[in-house]
Amino acid sequence: MSSMRKIRKAVIPVAGMGTRFLPATKAIPKEMLTIVDRPTIQYIVEEVVASGIEEVILITSEGKSAIENHFDYDFKLDTVLKEKNKTQLRAELKQISSLIDIVSVRQKEPLGLGHAIWMARNVVGNEPFLVLLGDDLVKSEVPCCRQMINLYEEVQESIVAIQRVPMDQTHQYGIVEGNPSEQSGAHLVDRMIEKPAPGTSSSNMAIIGRYLLMPEIFELLGKTTPGHGGEIQLTDALQALSKTRGMYAYEFEGKRYDAGDKLGYLKAIVDYALENPDFNGSFLDHLKTICAQNDLCKRD
Ligand code: G1P
Repeated sequence: MSSMRKIRKAVIPVAGMGTRFLPATKAIPKEMLTIVDRPTIQYIVEEVVASGIEEVILITSEGKSAIENHFDYDFKLDTVLKEKNKTQLRAELKQISSLIDIVSVRQKEPLGLGHAIWMARNVVGNEPFLVLLGDDLVKSEVPCCRQMINLYEEVQESIVAIQRVPMDQTHQYGIVEGNPSEQSGAHLVDRMIEKPAPGTSSSNMAIIGRYLLMPEIFELLGKTTPGHGGEIQLTDALQALSKTRGMYAYEFEGKRYDAGDKLGYLKAIVDYALENPDFNGSFLDHLKTICAQNDLCKRD
């Protein structure tokens, strides 16, 4: 066990254009859309921090500097808040800017998720690392990434987080075929297919945006040719990796939200708001009032 390589770094690709959320994302990055009181990217970075990671590598593109600014220390703002004696607010902002070390790498062309991850190769180096996709928020007791690191400490191989989805939705995901392994919730991967056409896979194990990867993935990503949608797909490189090393698919515990989808985003806002202690039950009261007034709750 002493030779086990520690998971220290997390790659978060944020270069995507956010077309699913236009016009909201015309001038601001989709990762900066707010859920209750913080942008979605902050939830992702907080999960990373709570999982014991030391460094975040953002893969960015033009127009994404608001994300870097959000985690930066703003001297001017801090001076103004200091003059106004806003101690609590200053402390909150300071806490965000000192969450974790953040490094940015530009993805100069939108060539796909696989290419975005490949851009991190020099900063990650020769050690296993995490990947988190910003659209997928996971609410759980133990952070999803921590659950994956716990499994990694047993198996010391790559792991993809999965969730069962209805068969008529499998074409929207990377799909994993495999068999249960000895570890609880884990499956040994046989095959991975990015967004399979209906009827071409009988599995409903869908990849959710959390990966723990061996550094060998970089060499394979460098050789991966465009796949689904004409893009360099991470799933295709993972399929190649699964042929040379063990790979696990892990059914994590927790609730996942697709915050990159309008309905998923709304569901996330409602669920996070219901749990927010600042509202002290008043948001739930509001929902109850709406239900009562509109008779919504009685509809099928
Ligand atoms: C990406 C991955 C896909 C995965 C999904 C999870 O697709 O390519 O394998 O299932 O994230 O959110 P995207 O949703 O970016 O098209």
